[in-house]
Amino acid sequence: MSDTSPLRPTRRTRLDSYVDRYAARTQGMKASEIRALFAVASRPEVVSLAGGMPNISALPIDAVAETLGDLTRSNGAMALQYGSGQGDPRLREQICDVMALEGISAHPDDVVVTVGSQQAVDLVTRIFCDPGDVVICEAPSYVGALGVFHAYECDVVHVEMDGQGLVPRSLEQAIVAVAAAGRRSKFLYTIPNFHNPAGVTLSAQRRTQILDICAQADLLVLEDNPYGLLGFDAEPMRAMRADDPAHVIYLGSFSKTFAPGFRVGWVLAPHAVREKLVLAQESATLCPPTFSQLAVSAYLEHHDWRGQIKSFNEMYRERRDSMLAALDEFMPAGASWTVPGGGFYVWVTLPEGVDSKTMLPRAVTSRVAYVPGTAFYADGFGSRSLRLSYCHPTPDRIREGVRRLAGVISADLELRETFGTTSATLTRGDERPHPDLE
Ligand SMILES: Cc1ncc(COP(=O)(O)O)c(C=O)c1O
Repeated sequence: MSDTSPLRPTRRTRLDSYVDRYAARTQGMKASEIRALFAVASRPEVVSLAGGMPNISALPIDAVAETLGDLTRSNGAMALQYGSGQGDPRLREQICDVMALEGISAHPDDVVVTVGSQQAVDLVTRIFCDPGDVVICEAPSYVGALGVFHAYECDVVHVEMDGQGLVPRSLEQAIVAVAAAGRRSKFLYTIPNFHNPAGVTLSAQRRTQILDICAQADLLVLEDNPYGLLGFDAEPMRAMRADDPAHVIYLGSFSKTFAPGFRVGWVLAPHAVREKLVLAQESATLCPPTFSQLAVSAYLEHHDWRGQIKSFNEMYRERRDSMLAALDEFMPAGASWTVPGGGFYVWVTLPEGVDSKTMLPRAVTSRVAYVPGTAFYADGFGSRSLRLSYCHPTPDRIREGVRRLAGVISADLELRETFGTTSATLTRGDERPHPDLE
């Protein structure tokens, strides 16, 4: 081929020479702006209140190892083989037992096993959403779900929350506004229990109201519930799916109640939807991982999994208490936060004028990390908020982390008093109602 051949691509000096070939939907796929900082934040001298990884140090690792060894020896030929696209039948029965703890009466035929509940969000969005469809989400919402909605080119409409969770009146207004704009809302994505990142739980009364609103508007509800059994004080709340099987698609996961490394979650869906989900699952992965499914199934069969969840909860409760006590002790006036009854997260609203995103480098320099609130909004809001996780560090480290964070916030406030705002872009986060307004 000569240098002037029309088949020879022109030489470019781009960093990514494939840039012209990617599908349009990849344009929204960006590495997080804060990823580089988190590389620093994972150093041992930094107290990371950022990550939401379950603390599996409470698992009996030797017993799990024995289960995995037994599984390979006694049933290896099956465990190491492909399986059904819908998931292992015995595991689907056991999943129904787990869901019964939240009042759900379901048939294993209506369960599809997925690669974590993250894949469940993906599959549901894949079968329901065309580019430009609207998904209604809480404000703030789970960053991993927002990423999926973005990847499928959906538009996210956020709906206000307060201390009791999603606000029904705001949901109604959003549904009406979307319809008035000639747009189609495909579903409401909600995390009713121990919300990630807001830390609040939807009250029983509101569950009924929201189900009524969605039924009237013929809007599906995607109930994402990885934390429902991680309550510290009360019995698990009744799932929304328990009261409206026709309108609610329910997502569950073993990531927080057992271990995330198996990547086993599930969807419970109305029968017709379940069929489409299996087809979508088959094209995505052929089948969910057989070894992981049989391992989770054996664990549920042979271990006291309810007792294990109890010990997880005792550990997380101690850490939550340490975080709340430290917030009370150290936070400057003007800051407020949610008080979670379970799960992993506290949502902090900063004193006016402090921007959680621009403050992060100063926090990491002071050896504490968190996730800025903007990560949990599709529309740039949230800069006056941040998410703290208490699941991983020890109670002492949590206290020290909050002490450091409070110091950074106080220093920002002092700077602000001296020079005006510490942020070049005064934040949109101030305008949107926050979950702790009550
Ligand atoms: C609200 C929510 N949904 C879904 C997931 C995904 O969990 P997994 O894919 O491990 O089941 C998470 C993980 O943190 C989450 O917080």
